[in-house]
Amino acid sequence: MASVPVQLKRSEISKEEQRKTPYLDALLAYVREETVPFHVPGHKQGRGIHPKLKDNLGSLYLAMDLTEVLGLDNLSHPTGVLKEAQELAAKAYGVDYSFFLVNGSSSGLHSMLMAVCNPGDSVILPRNVHKSAFSSLIFSGVVPIYMMPEFDEKLQVDHTVTEKTLEKALNDNPNAKAVLLVSPTYYGVSADVKRFVDMIHAHGKIAIVDEAWGPHLHFHPKLPFAATDAGADLVVNSTHKLLSSLTQSSILHLSGNRVDRSRLEAVLQLFLTTSPSCLLLASIDATRMQMATEGERWLDKAIMLSEDARARINKIPGLSCIGREIIGRPGVFALDPTRLVVSSTELGYTGYEVENILRKKYHVQVELSDLFHVVALVTLGDDQEQIDRLVDGLSRLEANDSGEPPKPRITKNVKLPDWPPFRLTPREAFVAPHETIPFERAVGRISTELITTYPPGIPSLVPGEELTRDVLDYLVIERDAGSRITGAADSTLSTLRVVK
Ligand SMILES: Cc1ncc(COP(=O)(O)O)c(C=O)c1O
Repeated sequence: MASVPVQLKRSEISKEEQRKTPYLDALLAYVREETVPFHVPGHKQGRGIHPKLKDNLGSLYLAMDLTEVLGLDNLSHPTGVLKEAQELAAKAYGVDYSFFLVNGSSSGLHSMLMAVCNPGDSVILPRNVHKSAFSSLIFSGVVPIYMMPEFDEKLQVDHTVTEKTLEKALNDNPNAKAVLLVSPTYYGVSADVKRFVDMIHAHGKIAIVDEAWGPHLHFHPKLPFAATDAGADLVVNSTHKLLSSLTQSSILHLSGNRVDRSRLEAVLQLFLTTSPSCLLLASIDATRMQMATEGERWLDKAIMLSEDARARINKIPGLSCIGREIIGRPGVFALDPTRLVVSSTELGYTGYEVENILRKKYHVQVELSDLFHVVALVTLGDDQEQIDRLVDGLSRLEANDSGEPPKPRITKNVKLPDWPPFRLTPREAFVAPHETIPFERAVGRISTELITTYPPGIPSLVPGEELTRDVLDYLVIERDAGSRITGAADSTLSTLRVVK
């Protein structure tokens, strides 16, 4: 099962073989047979659905909304068309095994840590991981050893960790079982994954990569190096985020022999629904076929469109869209050009305001907003007209409803707080007796809550962390600026739940 040098693998893909879509074909065949369905889902291929939904969805889509019936294999123990589809995916990505997921990369993150660690084992990971990685720490009882990501003062964004930070964490923690890396970040910044994976392996540890934002990287030479190509042991890709599979579908990849495959499969079964959507599975099969056979051409277009947008946005007074100039800053090894991270601070708007104006006035919806930026994704589904709508909306921001230019707001003076100190493990704090106290009296107490502004879904506070003045002040700024804050029992933040 040892991995062959992965750089060779891209050219090894057999386009002929990759044109196959065994799972999608089996699903379509079942629908064409017109078998009488005495099985779930209860809507019986659309017949029982109210016309208000049915007429808007289309009858073929509903007829395909099935779960495991004879001939459509079993996600917990695939032996037929699903096994074949997963093997084709593994070949397309150049890994040893691929597993289809129907609950996003979140379920991949839940499974990966539990597959390699037992309660009490420790894992090295950057503090700016997605909330699903913290959920995994709570489920698994794994002890986190946090690495601090590089904070970019100019952009007010966390990038990846540096080689030095990783080296120190590896040297200081010889007993850690694994390292979890996040690359690319939500903002499209990649680490030197090849170098990092080699370092992790040289220390005898398992390399896990949250590559939720990189399902496309493997398919284009101009994109940052993919973790699957770097020989990482476990990698999760959100195919629904940047490729064309349906929402919630993702793939988990396994390479090499450091991870016990049977344990991983057992853990996946703990987290899997017993009624996986065949539509989601078929959509992964189709997107793999599309990428393996014509991905480079599709991505050429997405890269070209995004570079065009970036150049035009950078000409709009008051706005800037980050590009290759940030490569080489600490924590920035490479950048995915298809991510458009637009800073609105000079113009005086928060990212939340920009998102609202774009949506309400110009019917353009971005992926993410934070205090300082909006982030737009350019994918296989975009064309020039859509790019023009985005750039046009951004170019009219200054002439807002009142016709007045925006006044400089908080964003010029706001700085993201330092990460709070960690006092208990996330699991210890989550299960500890708790009490609810007024927000003003919370400084110095230990949080039991996982409080996150979403997106990007990186928690400001994790169970077990101390509530510092800086973090509390920052949460108020976020709340007042209109951020979507999740995870607090009291969403107004008047009270907080802390360890008793
Ligand atoms: C870095 C990162 N990892 C994992 C996830 C979870 O992915 P999914 O939405 O596919 O569950 C996200 C979601 O935004 C993310 O940003």
